[in-house]
Amino acid sequence: MSFDTTAHNRRMTYFDEHESVWLFGYGSLIWKADFDYLERRPASIRGWVRRFWQGSHDHRGTPEAPGRVVTLVADAGATCHGMAYRIPPRVFEPLDIREKNGYLRVVTDMTFEDGAADGVEQAEGVVYLAGEDNAAYLGPAEEAAIARQIAESHGPSGPNRDYLLNLAAALRELGFEDAHVFALERALLAE
Ligand code: SIN
Repeated sequence: MSFDTTAHNRRMTYFDEHESVWLFGYGSLIWKADFDYLERRPASIRGWVRRFWQGSHDHRGTPEAPGRVVTLVADAGATCHGMAYRIPPRVFEPLDIREKNGYLRVVTDMTFEDGAADGVEQAEGVVYLAGEDNAAYLGPAEEAAIARQIAESHGPSGPNRDYLLNLAAALRELGFEDAHVFALERALLAE
């Protein structure tokens, strides 16, 4: 079974005519911005929580032993904090490949969290979302089990533990609270 969502994302033409597009990052896109962007701003989106419920067969694990990375899970009362990047649409080309293991480009509203330096508080943009119907989805598990899987997983992009520790450090640096991520960090460090 192919997990590859690249072709599907290539058909997402909603922002094609735009000079730039806001991309909301909530996982590795917060701390690993290895793509061109025009500006970045701390931001949040409403109605979603970040969860280590997505399998990683290509970056932080292997097809035989997938790691765990974050996706967003709908939660009406929740706010997910992250980093927004204003990117030229051509940057979706490498990003679609990076995010190919189940993530789809979805249109979202986002709120900037940096005091609106230019008076703009909100924007419509894109988030990569791995829904529960994607082939790489793992779903919920006990915190200890998730931490153990992360501790044991490695993939072409490196150890899964680095993904979790880098994400926790980046959120802390930005001043964002995330009980799920910080609890997994504690469990991992206690291993
Ligand atoms: C994201 O960071 O916004 C998507 C998930 C990931 O690449 O870790």
